[in-house]
Amino acid sequence: MTKTMFHSDLLQGQVALVTGGGSGIGLAISREFLLHGATVVIASRNAERLENAKKTLEEYGIVYTYALDIRKPESVEALATFIQETCGRLDHLVNNAGGQFPAAAADISPNGWLAVINTNLNGTWFVTQSIARHFFFKQEAGGTITNIIVNHYRGFPGMAHTGAARAGIDNLTKSLAIEWVSKNIRVNAVAPGIINSTGLENYPPEMVAQVAGTIPMKRLGTVDEVAQLVLFLSSSYAGYITGETVYIDGGSRLWGSMWQME
Ligand SMILES: NC(=O)c1ccc[n+]([C@@H]2O[C@H](COP(=O)([O-])OP(=O)(O)OC[C@H]3O[C@@H](n4cnc5c(N)ncnc54)[C@H](OP(=O)(O)O)[C@@H]3O)[C@@H](O)[C@H]2O)c1
Repeated sequence: MTKTMFHSDLLQGQVALVTGGGSGIGLAISREFLLHGATVVIASRNAERLENAKKTLEEYGIVYTYALDIRKPESVEALATFIQETCGRLDHLVNNAGGQFPAAAADISPNGWLAVINTNLNGTWFVTQSIARHFFFKQEAGGTITNIIVNHYRGFPGMAHTGAARAGIDNLTKSLAIEWVSKNIRVNAVAPGIINSTGLENYPPEMVAQVAGTIPMKRLGTVDEVAQLVLFLSSSYAGYITGETVYIDGGSRLWGSMWQME
């Protein structure tokens, strides 16, 4: 039997949306929610990836997939309608979809900059506002929003575009936590350091190989460690926590450099 962090009926009858839930950290978060009784909707661009993920997740509970690009507000609205029609409610939003690429700030093209900002800042906002309007504002029970950002504690030299976008979401987390507190909506962020996940495939292998030695704990984080933190923040056990950003980084925000700067 698979071990659960809390009682397996913790989220029974509840529904969660995990953007980017078809791979890596999002897949682990989806599994964690399913193991605790929730129905889970996973959404991202690649329909085939979503269907493959659904096959692996279905042994744990009810999973729906929806293919969309979070950068397109009209697609995001259609996702909310899909959730209303299939599940009738939504209790938890995990904004996990995102991506970036390593580049010196001086070399980032306008298109590269816009792609990263549009996904990680604008896309996250489109999903957040749409889901809050469609579900959380209307439900007495409100809802939870957990934003997966990055460890930007000391800026993000080497990936300035995503540092800027995620700092925006970090600040948005605080604004919304207060604006929406009276609607029973809790808004928090999780800032992972380097996590052993599919996202690392986008980075040069030699960069990934040397990175563990730069982390105070001398190892990468696991997707399950991030997923368990997200589950906790989404659960009633974190009922008095809002507007918080929790770093899960083996101490990296305080010490060490991932790579050498010129
Ligand atoms: N791994 C790490 O070390 C690390 C550290 C800090 C933060 N993070 C962040 O954690 C999140 C998950 O990372 P991961 O490592 O698990 O990487 P990943 O497997 O590449 O996950 C990113 C997910 O986002 C989806 N996505 C990307 N752009 C999208 C868009 N425009 N619309 C809809 N979905 C989109 C992707 O699916 P499709 O391709 O199907 O769209 C994919 O499932 C990301 O936001 C990442 O930046 C990761």
